[in-house]
Amino acid sequence: MSDQVLPRLGVNIDHIATLRNARGGAHPDPVAGAREAIACGADGITAHLREDRRHIRDEDLERLQALCHETGVPLNMEMAAVDPMLKIALATKPHAVCMVPERREERTTEGGLDVAGLHNIVTPMVRDLRENGSRVSLFIEAAERQIMAAATTGADIIELHTGAYAHALDDGDTARAGEILKALQQGVKLAASLGLEVHAGHGLTFDNVGDIAAIPEVMELNIGHFLIGESVFMGLRGAIEKMRDCIAEGRK
Ligand code: PXP
Repeated sequence: MSDQVLPRLGVNIDHIATLRNARGGAHPDPVAGAREAIACGADGITAHLREDRRHIRDEDLERLQALCHETGVPLNMEMAAVDPMLKIALATKPHAVCMVPERREERTTEGGLDVAGLHNIVTPMVRDLRENGSRVSLFIEAAERQIMAAATTGADIIELHTGAYAHALDDGDTARAGEILKALQQGVKLAASLGLEVHAGHGLTFDNVGDIAAIPEVMELNIGHFLIGESVFMGLRGAIEKMRDCIAEGRK
């Protein structure tokens, strides 16, 4: 092993709530899941309060913030760049807020936030959140235009969308995956040169996390659906520990 610092692993617990909501009761509790993820080595907890509340609900977010406060583990709240969500984020005061694009008809967050197009909306939100004590992250594609725009909003962090890379690999299109990986590598370098901290996430699995973890400036990986799904087979501890091993292997 080199003495490289490993990227932090943020565990997204949204889909524990998806499972709970499928039956309408209280089980399984995403906050209990977050507590377990922390006990198993998660460096942070990520939760997306969607406008349609399809998984995480307002009271989950409040309890997650209390848990993260109690344990000292950072909470990363994902939200759409809209005023009602801004209000909730300002009241919750999570360690970090990640602004993401949101469309009601989508199954998951498809594509990155158009920070270049929404600059006038995003910039004052970034300012308000930072003044309120949260770090601010923008979830974007690894496109030069978006990275340059993100840098001028005053955001602390960009999180690069790795979904297209994951899909290309799933489709067996290694040429396309190689092109996307190159764009991600170049995007990370550009962002770091502009003083932005760089995170990455979406669609990451044991098989595809290595090349993303290998990019030295990537400081954090946010992973949800695969980890929660895999924990059916190997438990949350097994899934988190194996993911950490894959990340360490990639960073070697
Ligand atoms: N990062 C961001 C900004 C996201 O919106 C999501 C999905 O909610 C993730 C990471 C995690 O993606 P996945 O569930 O595919 O691991």
